[in-house]
Amino acid sequence: MSTKTFSPIRKDYLIFGQPQILEDEIDEVLDSLRAAWIGTGPKVSRFEEMFRQYLGVSHAVALNSCTAGLHLSLLAAGIGRGDEVITTPMTFCATVNSIIHTGATPVLVDCERDSQLIDPNQIEAAITPKTKAIIPVHLCGRACDMDAIMDIAARHNLIVIEDAAHAIETTYKGRKVGTIGHMTVFSFYATKNVTTAEGGMVTTNIPELADKIKIYGLHGLSRDAWKRYSDEGFKHYQVVLPGYKYNMTDLQAALGLHQLPRVEQNLLRRNELWETYNQAFADLPVDLPAPDDPNARHARHLYTLMVDKARTGVSRDEFMDRLHAQNIGTGVHYLGVHLHPYYRETYGFRPEDFPNATWISERTVSLPLSPKLTNGDVEDVIEAVRNALAG
Ligand SMILES: Cc1ncc(COP(=O)(O)O)c(C=O)c1O
Repeated sequence: MSTKTFSPIRKDYLIFGQPQILEDEIDEVLDSLRAAWIGTGPKVSRFEEMFRQYLGVSHAVALNSCTAGLHLSLLAAGIGRGDEVITTPMTFCATVNSIIHTGATPVLVDCERDSQLIDPNQIEAAITPKTKAIIPVHLCGRACDMDAIMDIAARHNLIVIEDAAHAIETTYKGRKVGTIGHMTVFSFYATKNVTTAEGGMVTTNIPELADKIKIYGLHGLSRDAWKRYSDEGFKHYQVVLPGYKYNMTDLQAALGLHQLPRVEQNLLRRNELWETYNQAFADLPVDLPAPDDPNARHARHLYTLMVDKARTGVSRDEFMDRLHAQNIGTGVHYLGVHLHPYYRETYGFRPEDFPNATWISERTVSLPLSPKLTNGDVEDVIEAVRNALAG
């Protein structure tokens, strides 16, 4: 064990995943506050329409999180107790929690070691008569093999709900993620490529599903019930489903209305940072992100290194401590679902059942990657990484 100590290489702590918030969205939030329509209103509708057009999809329904969107997509597909839903262990807990909230059982299928995405070749072996849906996760912004997944789904009559929390800009074979599966769910959480502080969006080309999600998302009130206090005059509302309180507010949409138009411009900067990291770390004894799939566009949401103690002499956690001591924040995406106590105890998952996800969970670390980073910030990250591995 090295005795080298690490100290800050910069004055301010570089917080991982800091959003880029500009004056335009600040003004838009103030405008909502001044107009006093702060709940679900016209800005949510405008943001839905803007997102719908960005993807070129028929329907976009805004909600208060991606988690809510996953939950409602499953409910809209009629999934519940006694059903099984296949997903990957290499995801955030929200993906499996949303399955559990419907009463269904999550069934995990290991990911590929390089792409870190669900391995389509292992999906069919996990299908049973109870299987109703597959949730592929476009981890880090890399597109899953959607042709293979849609083909399996078609042959077994399964619904595909894409978890695109990391994948707003992702395309697959020229098609935007959000237009391929039956439903796709995006996140606008604070660290995401487009943020509304908290927020989510479900997209679909199937009108019945969009309608159901909209109704489920606001108490089960009949469509457009949010207008009941508007200048169109009072209307009685009618409850048609036992719904949830998952609606997005105009304060959140106000942020999105200015974040989304910048997303393509920001992707250019994300690409630049990605290349800079790739070049700066090429000679280090760590694995860099897998090369791009030539058929897909990566959204560059997360840049991850695989730190293997056998090769570097430093564990992933020690590496993160060393970056932290140098005032550089990092993240872990993720400790596999199958390694958390609740899922292990409830579903009997074992580390050896998902060897690739376990391997990644022990090694993965995400470096800061945001259009907010200055060139100086990026140089600091590179210096800190090299120091941490040299120590
Ligand atoms: C892969 C994945 N799925 C789902 C979610 C949940 O998103 P939200 O926080 O918007 O509910 C996240 C959020 O970090 C995520 O990374």
